[in-house]
Amino acid sequence: MTAVVAGIGAVVPDRLVTNEMLAQRLDTSDEWIVSRTGIRQRYVAPPGCSTSDLAVGAAERAMQSAGVDDVGLVVLATTTPDRPCPGTAPVVASKLGLVDVPAYDVSAVCTGFIYALFSAAGALALGHTESALVIGADTFSTILDPADRTTSVIFGDGAGAVVLRRGHEDEPGALSGFHLGSDGALADLITVPDKYFRMDGKPVFMHAVRRMTESSRTVLAQSGWTAQTVDRLVGHQANVRILQAVSEQLGIPEDRAVVNLDRVGNTAAASIPLAMADAAKDGDLVAGHKVLLTAFGGGATWGAATLTWPDVIAG
Ligand code: COA
Repeated sequence: MTAVVAGIGAVVPDRLVTNEMLAQRLDTSDEWIVSRTGIRQRYVAPPGCSTSDLAVGAAERAMQSAGVDDVGLVVLATTTPDRPCPGTAPVVASKLGLVDVPAYDVSAVCTGFIYALFSAAGALALGHTESALVIGADTFSTILDPADRTTSVIFGDGAGAVVLRRGHEDEPGALSGFHLGSDGALADLITVPDKYFRMDGKPVFMHAVRRMTESSRTVLAQSGWTAQTVDRLVGHQANVRILQAVSEQLGIPEDRAVVNLDRVGNTAAASIPLAMADAAKDGDLVAGHKVLLTAFGGGATWGAATLTWPDVIAG
């Protein structure tokens, strides 16, 4: 038995921040941001809108997409929990009206969604539950230093979620392979040392390309796929140049790489489910597509997964 994607949904807050708006208060420009990252705009949560609010919005859409009103497990990937303690997942479960279900947070920064997917898929494969909600949600705007142009231009807020159910490996939606890794010696590259998030962009770029490529190769081999098998590469939406480098090194044509970072920026744990939901809504990701997911994030952490896209309407 394995985990099968049964529904997907995503939300972004409605406060749009364009590059031009950032250039009015920071020493930066639309030209610099677009040429170095590919990002044109992002959405920012208004005061009072927390990570759990976005997570609930995405989860409701995913549950509607799956046609269910109940699940047996909630796993939430986030770096910006509502509070350091307790976890945010139980709050999300409660707001969704899910009573007595196991609910926990996963902390793996931008790789969080793949780690959370792995955790829930394991519980399903072992028969501990029949269904699960896997959510990636972040409000990075709450930890960005407004005076730091190197991070303020990159991140945006958002949430994405999938409903998984227990199913068979040959079903559409089936998750077929996983590879995860970490290297704590790189912990200082992406960190919140005090009040604000800090990132050493250049080495992060280099490690991200290397690890996303290696992890993808491992999971392709494990799934019995080649680069030619892959219809869509859904990589963590950090920087379009990272996505281009990874697809080039893997030998996957660049037009098979899903890109929505131009519209939403880097939404951390929300990035992959948000990109999948957007691509499905646009008709760019369709039933039967062989999909490769890969991410790199703070920790350092990285990972990749393969699945066959199901016949679902994204919410
Ligand atoms: N606007 C204008 N100039 C900026 C700027 C901004 N927003 N941010 C940095 N700069 C400046 C730098 O100060 C530097 O100036 P200097 O040459 O006078 O010192 C110059 O632009 C080049 O900076 P550099 O950091 O070398 O740029 P880069 O090409 O490496 O791009 C990132 C910076 C952050 C976009 C890039 O390193 C990156 O995307 N890294 C990966 C980040 C990532 O993916 N994080 C998430 C992973 S989970």
